[in-house]
Amino acid sequence: MKAIVCTKYGPPDVLQLRQVEKPAPKDDEVLIKIYATAVTASDIFIRSSQVPIRVLIPFRLMMGVTRPRKSIIGLVLAGEIESIGKNVKRFKTGDQVYGLTGFDLGAYAEYKCMKETDSTHGCLATKPTNISYEEATMVSYGGLLALQFMEKGNIQRGQKVLVYGASGTTGTTAIQYAKYLGAKVTAVCSTANVELVKSLGADAVIDYTREDTLNPGVQYNYILDAVGKNKTSKLKEVCKKALAPGGKYASIDDGALLLDSKRLALIKELVESGHIKPVIDRCYPLEELVEAHRYVGRGHKRGGVAITVS
Ligand SMILES: NC(=O)c1ccc[n+]([C@@H]2O[C@H](COP(=O)([O-])OP(=O)(O)OC[C@H]3O[C@@H](n4cnc5c(N)ncnc54)[C@H](OP(=O)(O)O)[C@@H]3O)[C@@H](O)[C@H]2O)c1
Repeated sequence: MKAIVCTKYGPPDVLQLRQVEKPAPKDDEVLIKIYATAVTASDIFIRSSQVPIRVLIPFRLMMGVTRPRKSIIGLVLAGEIESIGKNVKRFKTGDQVYGLTGFDLGAYAEYKCMKETDSTHGCLATKPTNISYEEATMVSYGGLLALQFMEKGNIQRGQKVLVYGASGTTGTTAIQYAKYLGAKVTAVCSTANVELVKSLGADAVIDYTREDTLNPGVQYNYILDAVGKNKTSKLKEVCKKALAPGGKYASIDDGALLLDSKRLALIKELVESGHIKPVIDRCYPLEELVEAHRYVGRGHKRGGVAITVS
């Protein structure tokens, strides 16, 4: 099968297209024919190994010392079940699925074996029926992050929520989920993305490239930093102090992403009922994955970047 192999840590061209052996499912695994994957912020960290210095040693011990131990990287997949092991109960041949591969990686390939149960090695669920495989890769990664971190806010109808970094994969989903919960949503993004976040339902938009302050007295019940601790602005520092009494501030980097197929099932419902729409910035074929990594590495994608595998 075709796969992209990460030959060492480094710039995007360490990723090389190779022919590798097609995997075969064990008794408790499904074999997925992958139709689409995505280039996520996590993939950029893993390929480049450009992580904060305090976590570099644990990162290398966990992922591999000079190159990823799992040479086929990629965290997100959508595809069809081609065959199943004899103990598999949740899925059958022909099911259309989407999910994350966790520490097992391996989504930059034509096939992947996964267990049907959730673990740090992945989670899998039936794909929303009304979107493409490429779109499904957007709402799995961004959706799991957005739902997990929005749930931390225990958001009640009518409460004020601010999503900082509203134009990324997680931010675009977080706005829509907060609206679904009945919140009044303020989205923070740059000028180029103002119309996008309004179209996703934001009630108010603040452009962090033009504004350094918030209106005096404005207070939020929940503030989610959806771009992470490496990306900041003067406005972000101001936002942190604009909490209503009892309000909460959370960064998307506070705690590990939970691989949870129940949340994937909820995302499926929200997509099928029209409450969450995937946002794809660009789509590349697998053969152009290096270009896709260059683009995502610049840090300004709108929504996500999908990869068509076959
Ligand atoms: N907790 C976990 O286990 C876990 C797992 C995976 C990822 N994460 C975190 O999740 C983050 C988000 O990933 P993602 O893929 O959703 O984001 P992303 O799509 O990579 O974010 C890109 C967006 O960030 C915006 N942006 C860049 N610099 C900004 C700034 N200074 N202020 C505001 N917005 C800015 C860009 O908008 P403009 O072009 O308008 O600037 C762009 O739309 C990752 O970076 C990582 O830190 C956490």
